[in-house]
Amino acid sequence: MAGFSTRILAIDPAAPDRRIIAEAAALIRAGQLVAFPTETVYGLGADALNPSALRRVYAVKGRPPDNPLILHIADRAGLSWVAATVPALAFALIEAFWPGPLTLVLPKAPRVPELATGGLETVAVRMPAHPVALALIEAARTPLAGPSANRSGRPSPTTAQHVFDDLHGTIPLILDAGPTAIGVESTVLDVTSTPPVILRPGGVSEEAIAALIGPLQKTAALALRRRSPGTRYRHYSPKATVQLIDPNQPERLRSAIAEALRHGQRVGCLLRQLDVHGGSPEVIVSRMPGCLSNYARALFAGLRSLDAQGVDLILVEAVPEEGIGAAVMDRLRRAASSPDSEPPSEG
Ligand code: TXA
Ligand code: MG
Repeated sequence: MAGFSTRILAIDPAAPDRRIIAEAAALIRAGQLVAFPTETVYGLGADALNPSALRRVYAVKGRPPDNPLILHIADRAGLSWVAATVPALAFALIEAFWPGPLTLVLPKAPRVPELATGGLETVAVRMPAHPVALALIEAARTPLAGPSANRSGRPSPTTAQHVFDDLHGTIPLILDAGPTAIGVESTVLDVTSTPPVILRPGGVSEEAIAALIGPLQKTAALALRRRSPGTRYRHYSPKATVQLIDPNQPERLRSAIAEALRHGQRVGCLLRQLDVHGGSPEVIVSRMPGCLSNYARALFAGLRSLDAQGVDLILVEAVPEEGIGAAVMDRLRRAASSPDSEPPSEG
């Protein structure tokens, strides 16, 4: 899809310029797409109640049509507009985590187009914690469908430049409020089942949710894939092959590098504790933050940057699966999954 000269407009995240918001909202109301910042990653905004705008979202992302979208709302009224019912337990979660990186899967209201939900009877809803996102939703006077604003299968965008790299020429406008604060997407929690189940780990940790509502359902990976269409697909993937390295096995890192160099490959490493001694110019090492929140913020940019440097193989040191580390490891495992073993991509 081509045909647009894509503009990037800088916007102050603390006090969004109302003229810029009005211009972006007018595009949304006209069925166009606008990339906007959230606290997690940049979203590709479209009027969630306009089927032709939704078709454009799938086309621009190259996303399989059975993979449903998250609807972004600015207030509680927006929730009753898109969800048929809201279980009592959801209100406790909303009270604690909205606005914020928690998406709730709820029974869908009839007015939500099938295209938004991939034909499911449920709808995914969240209230983003970002003044620009909230101002845009309010000004557009409609819930915003907002998948991550990357080409399907690529690492999600944490800067306006990432969005531009993937989507320039296919959308008219990107609102640039700087790098996103969290860096991985929202947690997707299905509250239509008892107890609720996490379909995608993200910005709100399982520990934090369980502390509020008690233990969550543990669902086998396979059953989960059926319930959350997006988790079926490989994604977050740079062009290079990604391989995970256990930090307790530094010899694996050394042998993987030696093997790749023998084959004439260029290697990139995202390392947190491990180190590469006696480095070769064919090996690019990016040091990742020890703090898991900072790590999450740097993850997608790290993968994209190594890709841009043309490496063939990316070796990534595994991180502890606690707090936001669970979301980081989920993204790393997907990035590392073989393209031959699964359908091509999500987004
Ligand atoms: O942080 C985020 O959630 C970002 C920002 C932009 O808000 N958005 C995002 O959207 O990550 P997307 O489209 O890239 O991912 C949506 C995920 C997919 O895994 C999809 O399968 C799942 O949510 N999903 C959406 N609707 C669902 C439903 N009704 N039932 C189960 N899973 C659903
Ligand atoms: Mg995505």
